[in-house]
Amino acid sequence: MSDSPRIALGITGASGAPYWRRLAEVLLQADYELHITHSSNANAVAQAEIDITVAQGLEQAHAAAGGRGRYRVFESNDFYAPMASGTAPYHGMAIVPCSMGTLSRIAHGMSADLLTRAADVMLKERRRLVLLCRETPLSLIHLESMTRVTQAGGVIIPASPGFYYKPQTVADLVDFMVQRLCDQLAVDVRIVRAWGAE
Ligand SMILES: Cc1cc2nc3c(=O)[nH]c(=O)nc-3n(C[C@H](O)[C@H](O)[C@H](O)COP(=O)(O)O)c2cc1C
Repeated sequence: MSDSPRIALGITGASGAPYWRRLAEVLLQADYELHITHSSNANAVAQAEIDITVAQGLEQAHAAAGGRGRYRVFESNDFYAPMASGTAPYHGMAIVPCSMGTLSRIAHGMSADLLTRAADVMLKERRRLVLLCRETPLSLIHLESMTRVTQAGGVIIPASPGFYYKPQTVADLVDFMVQRLCDQLAVDVRIVRAWGAE
């Protein structure tokens, strides 16, 4: 596994814009450099859910992180971006949220845009790839795609927060999932206390 301070973040048009905005904030605060690419549907969903574009959401995340860390956004057809090649070091990649369409494309190696190409690269280079998948209920196609990605070394995280922490706000639910994402990315941050910890 690479110890590069650089993380790729893919954003798709599944429901869950608050997740990527908070994850970006936490990773920037932890001084990671984020390389971001998103689908056009990600913008549409961000508008629907949090009334902003992805670009605006990232600006908010950077401001909330006190201006720490750095981020760059790459066009979805930019195959000259570093994340398109295994020669560029990355700590790993998170796809947050991951639509069933993108999940299926990754499961079948369809590197049709930068996001799915980067995911393909993470798998072939045996780097961390974490997918926050969001859909319900799940069809056999979804389940088989999740199985294929898992067998190839990716980690599927269903966007299903636990309630045993007694969440009081939507932000608490979001933080639960962002903590789990950080855990699987091997990012040493703690925004939700570990179960059983003082
Ligand atoms: C408001 C909204 C919410 C959506 N939520 C989901 C979702 O939770 N999961 C999903 O797989 N697709 C969802 N979709 C559909 C995807 O955006 C659509 O399948 C799209 O083609 C995904 O493409 P992408 O993966 O390139 O972003 C949603 C669409 C809209 C407009």
